[in-house]
Amino acid sequence: MKIDRLCVAYYSPTHTSRAVARTVGDGFGISRREEHDLTTDRSDSPILVKDSVCIVAAPVYGGLLAPVAARRIARLRAENSVAVPVAVYGNRDYEDALVQLRDLLHGQGFTVLCGAAFVGEHSYSRPGMPIAEGRPDTQDLREAEAFGRQAYASLTRQLGIATPPPADARDFALTYDAPLEQLVSTPPMKGNVPYKTLGPSTPQAPVVGDLCYGCGECVDLCPTGAISLQDGRSTTDITRCTKCCACVKSCPVGARTFDTPYTAMLHERFSARREPETFI
Ligand SMILES: Cc1cc2nc3c(=O)[nH]c(=O)nc-3n(C[C@H](O)[C@H](O)[C@H](O)COP(=O)(O)O)c2cc1C
Ligand code: SF4
Ligand code: SF4
Repeated sequence: MKIDRLCVAYYSPTHTSRAVARTVGDGFGISRREEHDLTTDRSDSPILVKDSVCIVAAPVYGGLLAPVAARRIARLRAENSVAVPVAVYGNRDYEDALVQLRDLLHGQGFTVLCGAAFVGEHSYSRPGMPIAEGRPDTQDLREAEAFGRQAYASLTRQLGIATPPPADARDFALTYDAPLEQLVSTPPMKGNVPYKTLGPSTPQAPVVGDLCYGCGECVDLCPTGAISLQDGRSTTDITRCTKCCACVKSCPVGARTFDTPYTAMLHERFSARREPETFI
């Protein structure tokens, strides 16, 4: 049996989970690599992940895995593969999201190698009201890469490979002769099982201002297809909006705003820098 490739999968409306996932992947140094961006891909078809190390990153919403992320990640089907769950949160807390992602990946057939929680700029962060603005920053990404390197070392050690092959060799393969679940153990991670429960949330969506000129960019990048164009302007189906703020952050003219009292509360209470946490 062998592992000979890297898979980087993420759900990432505002791109912080993507940045962390890619950099953890870099730390593994495996050159045969594939990427699955599950953010706007609304297909239901299964994605086979075979003979791989798979980094899976997703944002934390309300201390849990973002619900759309959970649905999209459930498309991954593992065959002889290990997973590295990574929860990315906006400097408040990740609560049960990491263990939820760990359990989801286990249920999809992965052997979970290790896990981590990293900080990304909060979806609600605004100019003048920053919450973890600009994160993951250089220091976070350095730690993400180091985590990937440590995880690779842990994997080769647990597979009993005394001299791991050079990571970027064309014929790179880690070979071993027992099922992965017998060789690789999952370390304890922070979070509660059963997971916390959330009350119903109030439907809300960004407001479109006069600056909108109907370019359609936000229509394509909305993860849930909540945006359409009408009379040369974008409009939002509030029932589909997940408040991810991808449209707010990427509109070229700043025509969309998401106004919530949480922004000021988070800015005031969660400005102290939190650091990445890794579980190897
Ligand atoms: C609806 C919603 C709920 C959120 N809940 C939390 C939370 O409970 N704790 C936290 O620290 N950040 C929370 N965040 C912030 C995101 O986890 C954070 O911005 C993350 O970096 C976004 O990932 P992405 O860039 O991959 O979309 C929330 C964001 C949204 C939109
Ligand atoms: S990206 Fe901005 S300008 Fe373009 S359609 Fe959306 S809201 Fe309008
Ligand atoms: S409309 Fe809602 S779900 Fe769509 S990108 Fe904007 S905030 Fe996200």
